[in-house]
Amino acid sequence: MLTLSQLMQQLQQTVMTPNTDLSTLVSQQVGQGKTVLITGASSGLGAGMARHFASMGYNLALCARRTERLDTLKREILAQYPVNVSVKALDVADYDQVFTVFRDFAQEFGKIDRIIVNAGVGEGRRIGKGAFDINRKTAEINFISGLAQCEAAMEIFRAQNSGHLVVISSMSAMRGLPKHLTTYAASKAGIAHLAEGIRADMLAAELPIKVSTIYPGYIRTEINEGAKPLPFEVTEEVGTKALAIAIEGEPDEACVPAMPWSLVQQWMKTAPLKWVNQLS
Ligand SMILES: NC(=O)c1ccc[n+]([C@@H]2O[C@H](COP(=O)([O-])OP(=O)(O)OC[C@H]3O[C@@H](n4cnc5c(N)ncnc54)[C@H](OP(=O)(O)O)[C@@H]3O)[C@@H](O)[C@H]2O)c1
Repeated sequence: MLTLSQLMQQLQQTVMTPNTDLSTLVSQQVGQGKTVLITGASSGLGAGMARHFASMGYNLALCARRTERLDTLKREILAQYPVNVSVKALDVADYDQVFTVFRDFAQEFGKIDRIIVNAGVGEGRRIGKGAFDINRKTAEINFISGLAQCEAAMEIFRAQNSGHLVVISSMSAMRGLPKHLTTYAASKAGIAHLAEGIRADMLAAELPIKVSTIYPGYIRTEINEGAKPLPFEVTEEVGTKALAIAIEGEPDEACVPAMPWSLVQQWMKTAPLKWVNQLS
């Protein structure tokens, strides 16, 4: 069994991000006539994925609480790509609003081809240190609000008898993690299991609806702003490009960027907990 530093040494000698070929998907305009709905699209991964899917020709249904950011992103995308972009305010903690906004988007576009459950928060504190409110909020936004989004998305996809549900989990879902990451990692493991269960249900019912669970590694965005250098971290541009390419392949599961995270995943699942701790 390799220690984390031995693993990092080995991986640094391999290619970190081989999945960089977006140009084929852009030149083929694979998204033409299709619509992708993204929650948490006002910054970071959501905004970055929106840009890349627009470059592939997808129409965009974007939501978040900070609508001024969504309006700016919409203007930026419309200046570059001949696609339709609709933005709506959504606080995913308001479960009724999740259903209303998703249904409104479906009505507006006629059909939604892909829904990316992306909105999330990274706040957390050590368990038993008096910060239940913060940890509860993280669990609620990342898991219960994620459940509301999956319910609302699957309602639309079942009615259409087609669609692609994408759930943004995290590499932290692979094991229980210490310190500020304990609740976050648990919430991301929960949403990953939920996605797998929906995928199992689609298999059992033989419905043509795809479900992808995505496990991003460290990507520098507002969620980890000010954090010390993180293991194998990539920029927002590199990370969101890798995410868009991975999602376009409609995998059951994907670690993103694939290298090094698909190898780290195997290591995380079997390494002693004390070694895995060093990733946090
Ligand atoms: N960056 C990473 O290293 C990394 C790694 C693994 C997984 N992830 C996951 O990727 C997703 C996106 O994170 P990010 O890195 O892009 O962070 P970010 O830049 O902080 O973006 C988070 C997004 O979630 C939205 N959001 C948060 N609370 C919300 C609420 N109550 N209602 C509606 N939207 C809400 C925010 O929009 P508003 O504030 O405008 O509402 C924002 O658009 C998260 O689920 C995160 O856990 C990130």
